[in-house]
Amino acid sequence: MGVDRISGGYVNLDNASPVLVTVAFVKRYVALEGGDGSGKSTIAAALSARLEALGNDVIVVREPGGTQVGEAIRGLLLDSEKLDDWAEVFLFAAQRAELAREVIVPALEAGGWVISDRTYYSSIAYQGRGRGLGEERVRHINEVGLDGVVPDWVFVLDVDPVSALARQHDPDRIGKQGVEFQEAVRASYIALADTDDKVSIVDGNRTVEEIVDLIVEAVS
Ligand code: ADP
Ligand code: TYD
Repeated sequence: MGVDRISGGYVNLDNASPVLVTVAFVKRYVALEGGDGSGKSTIAAALSARLEALGNDVIVVREPGGTQVGEAIRGLLLDSEKLDDWAEVFLFAAQRAELAREVIVPALEAGGWVISDRTYYSSIAYQGRGRGLGEERVRHINEVGLDGVVPDWVFVLDVDPVSALARQHDPDRIGKQGVEFQEAVRASYIALADTDDKVSIVDGNRTVEEIVDLIVEAVS
């Protein structure tokens, strides 16, 4: 069986789609993860500026969202008063599959960098651990939909939930779950860093400059 490394994931080359084969061996897809208010959007913008200054094409995408369908799903996910937990998992996974094929693959194929403000690792931590649906089950569902379009590096900005929530201006439906939920999310990310080679924990209390330095060094 011809198994090879594709953008950090593994795919059976006998069944691989042309899209996946063409993005083989590139490592330009960076994910930023962390609890609500941990600084992901701030670091995404600063990291993008730094990589651009080094002469690269860079796009920043955010989840949920980033496509027309994805933005509509974002509204359902964050503004619905009530949503079934499994419906939540599949809506996140649906907007993510759309984003992967519509935006991420073309950007990687064009030779650019992709910085993603959240990825399916958020679903593993929030829905898998936070909601208690099972991290492996949530990982599997998402990996089916992503079909190999997965980040090369996952940097988790670690900030204690009390400080991170205090940084937030306007929490959404999931951001309002409270400190205990955010503690579960944090524990999930820390456990992922122990078992998944792509995942690194970064101290989110450091300055923006220091965090960007650290990430650029890791991906260079
Ligand atoms: P997230 O996207 O993870 O919700 P944001 O990037 O919106 O987080 O940051 C939340 C708040 O914390 C903002 O007010 C931002 O200016 C501030 N912030 C972000 N990164 C840092 C940092 N490294 N140190 C101190 N404050 C930060
Ligand atoms: P986001 O807009 O990134 O919020 P924040 O900037 O506060 O971190 O994400 C919106 C919310 O959706 C946030 O509470 C995290 C949650 N979320 C999940 O529960 N699962 C997921 O797969 C993703 C991508 C986000």
